[in-house]
Amino acid sequence: MSQHTADQPQSGTGPAATSPGWWTEAIIYQVYPRSFADGDGDGMGDLEGVRSRLPYLRDLGVDAVWLSPFYASPQADAGYDVADYRAVDPVFGTLPDADALIRDVHAHGLRIIVDLVPNHSSEQHEWFRRALAEGPGSALRERYHFRPGRGAGGELPPNDWESVFGGPAWTRTTDPDGTPGDWYLHLFAPEQPDFDWDHPAVGDEFRSILRFWLDMGVDGFRVDVAHGLVKAPGLPDLGTREQLRLLDGEAKPFFDQDGVHEVYRSWRTVLDEYPGERIFVAEAWTPTIERTARYVRPDELHQAFNFPYLTTPWDAAELRTIIDRSLDAMRSVGAPTTWVLSNHDVTRHATRFANPPGLGTQLRSAGDRELGLRRARAATLLMLALPGSAYVYQGEELGLPDVVDLPDEVREDPSFFRAAGQDGFRDGCRVPIPWTVDGTSYGFGSGGSWLPQPAGWGELSVRSQTGVEGSTLELYRAALAARRAHPALGAGDRVQWLDAPAGVLAFRRTAGGRDLVCAANTTGAPVPWTGPGTLLLSSAPLGADGELPADTTAWWTSP
Ligand code: NOJ
Repeated sequence: MSQHTADQPQSGTGPAATSPGWWTEAIIYQVYPRSFADGDGDGMGDLEGVRSRLPYLRDLGVDAVWLSPFYASPQADAGYDVADYRAVDPVFGTLPDADALIRDVHAHGLRIIVDLVPNHSSEQHEWFRRALAEGPGSALRERYHFRPGRGAGGELPPNDWESVFGGPAWTRTTDPDGTPGDWYLHLFAPEQPDFDWDHPAVGDEFRSILRFWLDMGVDGFRVDVAHGLVKAPGLPDLGTREQLRLLDGEAKPFFDQDGVHEVYRSWRTVLDEYPGERIFVAEAWTPTIERTARYVRPDELHQAFNFPYLTTPWDAAELRTIIDRSLDAMRSVGAPTTWVLSNHDVTRHATRFANPPGLGTQLRSAGDRELGLRRARAATLLMLALPGSAYVYQGEELGLPDVVDLPDEVREDPSFFRAAGQDGFRDGCRVPIPWTVDGTSYGFGSGGSWLPQPAGWGELSVRSQTGVEGSTLELYRAALAARRAHPALGAGDRVQWLDAPAGVLAFRRTAGGRDLVCAANTTGAPVPWTGPGTLLLSSAPLGADGELPADTTAWWTSP
């Protein structure tokens, strides 16, 4: 397999693909490999499937794709439990398939970001398997957090930390002679032991893994649990049962410790040795957006997901507050702000907005689907008018809802089985996407689909929506084309707020001598408001009466 780099001449069409700073206003499309397209007909998506759909992504108008993990893994957490960071799991293909995919992505004028999972490995990782097999005293145990239990016989966990997926964050081991032994820490499932980042071998290994994929030609990494690598010295008790409210403004001894920043500074020097503009994006759940900004200081990572924005309800006042705070926080460190509405861990925004606010991001209720879709389309146009980079999760361009009625026996999300923390309904946003109106698994593949697709999925398919005026797919295509054509969409780091009635957000963006005005009506009734210049795009038809309809966003441009 020959090595290649991302800055070699590319034959694609995307203007962002070769311009400097492409990532500062990029649209990055999340591919969840299990559920995107199945090339070999085994019911599970794979790299070959992704490759076959690259023309679709190019034509959609995105700049880059981010792939959730496809590495060798027992799949205890859908691939976020990695057994070998340098191998492709057979369910997704082979290393040559990954090489071919990276090349093809570039040939389509796109960039590719892969997932990196540094907080924990799989229990099947060689280090962890040997650490267990060698028993107490194994030097490999120092690369994880092994501790004796509390209580007379060591029968209690070493501290009171809870797993994000529910239950204690510790599991007791059995020594090779069959007696109960030490405990090990896992902030997620027991199959995902946390690395001890104080051990130098862990840092060395991850710098080497970075180089492996950079040499393969990837354009960047999404850093899983970027806030979790370093734990407070001594692993102190938290002393509360409310441990897992991730955005509650409170520091936690297992998240967002200052020491993580040293790790990212060292990674940045590795990345910067490589040609091309390669990036890191942090999955960092921190107490505040200001804390998140610390991950994207100039010598650390490039972008961080904006989870406070994702969790904001469809409400003008709340949206304005988080938009201002996000822009201020990121401007203070010179990083672009990012925006995101959906991903593989939360209920899709078409379903979140179909339900009353305040129910969280793990919903079991379909709600008012028509209303949800209307608001989702409006929310998308608002997001795409903001300065910075935006993430789109596969299927949101089809307006897909969550599948809220999956039977228990088909579920795979480990948090469902541990029944706490996250409510365990992440499978609902992971159902394979429909490409065709009918046929086996609606064009996902020739062998069914690992999660059942609901009846009627075909009506939402790419085929059904292509060329149909007003469809959600055509709305996304038009919006992304407009972003490429209009300099005021995406660029810059601020918005100019305009006067608007309660419940309406309106702002102006100016760039390249052109103005763009965006207005979003988050209320359930029309309001008298219209923008200057020419209507460029709207999430629902506007009447001729100068009113902005209920739950609608529109863009006007001038001159
Ligand atoms: C965040 C990932 O997005 C999620 O899917 C996973 O379960 C956890 N990290 C643990 O890796």
